[in-house]
Amino acid sequence: MVSYKDLGLVNTREMFAKAIEGGYAVPAFNFNNMEQLQAIIKAAAEEKSPVILQVSKGARNYANATLLRYMAQGAVAYAKELGWENPQICLHLDHGDSFELCKSCIDNGFSSVMIDGSHLPYEENVALTKQVVDYAHQFDVTVEGELGVLAGVEDEVSSDHHTYTDPEEVIDFATRTGCDSLAISIGTSHGAYKFTPEQCTRDPKTGKLVPPPLAFEVLDAVMEKLPGFPIVLHGSSSVPQEYVDTINKFGGKLPDAIGIPEEELRKAAKSAVCKINIDSDSRLAMTAAVREVFATKPGEFDPRKYLGPARDEMERLYKHKIENVLGSNGKA
Ligand code: G3H
Ligand code: 13P
Ligand code: ZN
Repeated sequence: MVSYKDLGLVNTREMFAKAIEGGYAVPAFNFNNMEQLQAIIKAAAEEKSPVILQVSKGARNYANATLLRYMAQGAVAYAKELGWENPQICLHLDHGDSFELCKSCIDNGFSSVMIDGSHLPYEENVALTKQVVDYAHQFDVTVEGELGVLAGVEDEVSSDHHTYTDPEEVIDFATRTGCDSLAISIGTSHGAYKFTPEQCTRDPKTGKLVPPPLAFEVLDAVMEKLPGFPIVLHGSSSVPQEYVDTINKFGGKLPDAIGIPEEELRKAAKSAVCKINIDSDSRLAMTAAVREVFATKPGEFDPRKYLGPARDEMERLYKHKIENVLGSNGKA
């Protein structure tokens, strides 16, 4: 058993309490590799922002569970080396799909896990989430549950429609499972194609596609039922057009990629939404930078010459999110 406390990590309890109180959200950035981790830690340390290092089942398989644990421990040491005296860093399992996976993460240094039973019948979601909570809480590990289904793909859980969270279910779910936070569905979705052009309107001035608004009325109803309870938004990448343009200019093919407008995330961050998940934007930043080097410097073959610029671009992106979207700068 490796306790996250011995790695210098923290769970989400205090992070979320402060975020709700302070009207900001904690960034949950997914990572798979060293360059992403370096960029996340550098951004968080320089911004003094609490941060959640988020690892999916696929990322854990890709990176190796043992190596990951040491990477997280190294991240805390690196943050201190960068001058962050008391780093507030959480290592979180994203979209855990079984009790066994959650247990394995808890036993190997994770300070927080998500059990995603959102695709299951309600009673099965309650039972599975409670099973994970009962195990996790013995070690002071926090647990995120999910109610409602996001459009798109949630790891191996696929759904081509989305069902908004039913606010009538949230009190029962939170009470019976004992979960520490709840991911809800209000119209966000995973990946770089969150809306089809047909679902959008066109801004007559700029000609750009404008996505339909998020269902803030559902969020409001959830907050009314569970005042002060930490809410999580998945699928919150904004798909910056400049990255999409760079990727397409240098040989990529991402037609009509559309994300969540930053104004909507800014508004959500001021509410009980205290964790905002971002993965796709980092993938886009990395891909745009790498493609640009490959296209403009075809003689380059030292990975540091293309992964270095990719890392710098991700750091810029993370700082922008922290400062201008989530408002978590200076909070740790
Ligand atoms: O929500 C899913 C995350 O973006 C992780 O994606 O399963 O491809 O690592 P992944
Ligand atoms: P994006 O695909 O919008 O970055 O969402 C990531 C996410 O929700 C991870 O759980
Ligand atoms: Zn997600």
